[in-house]
Amino acid sequence: MDAFQYRGNELYCEDVPVAKLAEEFGTPLYVYSGSMIVETLKTLQEVYAEVDPLVCFSVKANSNLGILRLLKAYGSGFDVVSGGELFRVLKAGGDPAQTVFAGVGKSDPEIAQAIEAGVLMFNVESEAELDSIARVAASMGRVAPIALRVNPDVDPKTHRYTATGQKESKFGLDIDRALRIAATVKDKPSLTMIGMHMHIGSQITTVEPYAKAVAKGVELIGQLREMGHPIAWYNMGGGYGIGYKGPEAKPLKEFAAAILPGIKAAGCRLAIEPGRVIAGNAGVLVGRVLYTKQSGDKRFVIQDAAMNDLIRPALYESFHRIWPVTVPPGLPAPPTDYEAAIPGTEPRDVVGPICESGDFFAKDRPLPPLDRGDLLATFSAGAYGMVMASNYNTRPRAAEILVEGDQARLVRRRETLDELVAAEEGL
Ligand code: LLP
Repeated sequence: MDAFQYRGNELYCEDVPVAKLAEEFGTPLYVYSGSMIVETLKTLQEVYAEVDPLVCFSVKANSNLGILRLLKAYGSGFDVVSGGELFRVLKAGGDPAQTVFAGVGKSDPEIAQAIEAGVLMFNVESEAELDSIARVAASMGRVAPIALRVNPDVDPKTHRYTATGQKESKFGLDIDRALRIAATVKDKPSLTMIGMHMHIGSQITTVEPYAKAVAKGVELIGQLREMGHPIAWYNMGGGYGIGYKGPEAKPLKEFAAAILPGIKAAGCRLAIEPGRVIAGNAGVLVGRVLYTKQSGDKRFVIQDAAMNDLIRPALYESFHRIWPVTVPPGLPAPPTDYEAAIPGTEPRDVVGPICESGDFFAKDRPLPPLDRGDLLATFSAGAYGMVMASNYNTRPRAAEILVEGDQARLVRRRETLDELVAAEEGL
C-alpha cells in the first residue's frame, strides 16, 4: 500500500488532502498513515505466522502515543531502549509481557523499572550489564528473564552509522564471549536465559546478511541449550530496509524466506524488532516555502521545516524524496528514477531556517519552480524523524497528525514557546 498518492495534482494521505491538514494545523507538520502502519504490521505477522511471531515495534523509530496505541490494538509488542520508552509503552496500554528491553547502557533504576513492569526479556549487551541485572533482580527478590545480544559478525551492507552486528561494534557480544558468559548465568539464580538476540543493523535492503546471521544463531542456540538454558525465543532484531528513492529494498516475504528455515530448525518462537519498515514510508514531513534565492549558480528553496525536524539528511546524508504537495500542471508525482532527466524541473537545494550549513534536506534536487507559500512534502519521514527532532534555535517541534481513511487526528500538538522555557523558570 502506498498511503501517499496524488489525486489529480493534490497529495493525499489516504483519503485526506495533505494541503488541508497544513492549512488547519500549520507547518512544519508530520502526517502519518495509520492504515499503512497497520498493514505493514499485519504483513509481518503473516509472513512469519509459522513460528508464532511476536512483532515488537521498535519504539525508537516513532514513539508517538497515538501510533503506539494503534499498533497495540493490532497485537504489536514493543522494543524499548530506555525507561522513557518503557514509560511511553505503558502509557499507550502496551503489554510489558510483550516488550523487550535493549540498549548498551541500562541504568540500575531502568533495570528495576523494567523488572517491576514485567518485561518479556532484557537483551543483555555486556558481562557487566548481566551482573547489574542479576544484582538488581536479586535485591527485588525476582528472577529476570534475559537474552544475550550476540554479534554474528556479518556485514549488513548499510550506512556505517547503522551497522551494528560486526565485531568492532559497541553493541552486543561476540559469539565466543557470549558462550563464556552464558556459562556463568547458571550461577546467578536471579537470572533465567530464555532467548537469544541479534540485531545486525538498520536499513538493510538484501536478505543475505540475515541468512548468514540466522545460520550462526541456530548453532549458538544448540550450544546454549546443551548448557541447560531453556531458550524459547529467537529475537532477530529489526533492520528491514525501505525504499527512500524507489523500490530499493526486498519485500518482507523475501526476508522471511531467508529467516524462517533457521528459526524452525531451532524450534523457537520468533521475536522481531522492526521500526523503520513499519513507520518510515507511512509518514511525510510537510513544510511551507518561505523564500527562494540564488547564490552564484545555486538555487535555494528555504522552507520552514528544518534539520531540527528531520536530521537524517544532515546526519547520514540520507536521501528523502521531496515534491510539492500541489503539483504544477504537467508534472508527474515524485520521481522514482532520479538518474533520468525530469522535465519541468531545475536543480535546487532545499534548506531550512537554521543557522548551520548542515541544515539541508536535499542538494541539487530536481524540483519544479516554487514560490513563497508552496507546500513541500518530504517523504519516508515516519521513522527516525520526529523522535530525533530537537528544539535547536528555540524552534518548537512540529505537530503530528494520524490519518485513518478520511479521518485525521492531531496526535501531538505543536509546542508553545512557553513550554520550551518552562523547565528553566521558577527555579
Ligand atoms: N532493534 C535494535 C536493537 C535496534 O538497535 C534498532 C535500531 C532496531 C531494532 C530497529 O531497527 P529498524 O527496524 O528501524 O531498522 N537513526 C537511524 C537508525 C538508527 C537505528 C538504531 N537501531 C536512521 O535514521 O536511519
